[in-house]
Amino acid sequence: MLFEPFSFSGLNLRNRLVRSATYEKRADEDGFVTESLIELYEDLTRGGIGLMITGNALVHPSGRTITQMLCIHSDIYIQGLRKLTAAVHEMKGIIAIQLVHGGRQSFPVLLGGSDPLAPSAVFDTSTKIMPRAMTDTEIWEMVDAFGDAARRGRIAGFDAVQIHGAHGYLVSEFLSPHTNRRDDYWGGDEERRFHFVEEVYKAMRKEVGEDYPLMIKMNADDLMEGGLKVDGAVRIAARLEELGLDAVEVSGGMYESSRKTAQPDILDPEDEAYFRDRGKAFKSSLHIPVILVGGMRSRTVMEEVLQKGEADLISMARPLIREPDLPNRFREGKERADCISCNGCMDFGKLDIVECIQLH
Ligand SMILES: Cc1cc2nc3c(=O)[nH]c(=O)nc-3n(C[C@H](O)[C@H](O)[C@H](O)COP(=O)(O)O)c2cc1C
Repeated sequence: MLFEPFSFSGLNLRNRLVRSATYEKRADEDGFVTESLIELYEDLTRGGIGLMITGNALVHPSGRTITQMLCIHSDIYIQGLRKLTAAVHEMKGIIAIQLVHGGRQSFPVLLGGSDPLAPSAVFDTSTKIMPRAMTDTEIWEMVDAFGDAARRGRIAGFDAVQIHGAHGYLVSEFLSPHTNRRDDYWGGDEERRFHFVEEVYKAMRKEVGEDYPLMIKMNADDLMEGGLKVDGAVRIAARLEELGLDAVEVSGGMYESSRKTAQPDILDPEDEAYFRDRGKAFKSSLHIPVILVGGMRSRTVMEEVLQKGEADLISMARPLIREPDLPNRFREGKERADCISCNGCMDFGKLDIVECIQLH
């Protein structure tokens, strides 16, 4: 099934393989598209992937998580982004852009010394950062920032936009009982914790119109004591589906969680597809396509996930850093990605650009 075409919301994918959003460190210092970034997407397109999702693009300067991060928080970025989508479309590729605000996982050193913003002032034990709780006005400003960024994404020619609602960044923080301790419109119970993503979704939909695919990547599980769990996550996804969401990508974890989003040492088939059970729970309650990410390495496991109806699309990050043409290699008979999940590619501080350190 892996190489059967798949269509949803006007997107016609040549196969079931997705490049999950992967921060590349290839934008310039000011967040503009570079030739190096375009080359990467040309390689991925040539490599046979069905759908590509860009590394997370910044919707507001207060949410910066990293250097050389792609930006979309101003109209000045549209021209460069348009060059990127044009290059991909020229080669018949399909590309979505992922939108992020880093929330409490942003770093003061990247924010001119300001405290990172979050739903609540909950100390992050991994970064040792105490964020500042956002005011109501600031929250609405960020809702608008997501809406504006989605508009820019569409104008720039992206085929779809994905909300980064996973991994403990701002949208995920509002959804998580661990990071959202508010008692107002934005938090206090599950209903109110849903409001931020709901308003973000509605602001984006208003800007892009009804006929444009909007997706979310979200945590099925924060992998944290007191965090979001799969039942609540499925209810959130179902409500977004009701509002008109087009697809959901299922992930998990945050900086603070002991088990990670990108789990290391995926060497045996049993270690693969580590969010598979969660994907299954999403599939059994939703009608929109479910994209599963997390440790997908061998063709047999991917086929099994699809055959069993545990997901509609298979998403990968680390294997495609090492082998951007992995889809073509699979199609030619390769059984397993070369990636050994050493996580060297995540050593953002050391690497000039994100790449596979095993190849050097
Ligand atoms: C270098 C690197 C950068 C990443 N950047 C992002 C990102 O920008 N947005 C996102 O949602 N996930 C990001 N992730 C997480 C991946 O998309 C994916 O969820 C995770 O790595 C598990 O999938 P894998 O086992 O196929 O790598 C990143 C992962 C890596 C290794």
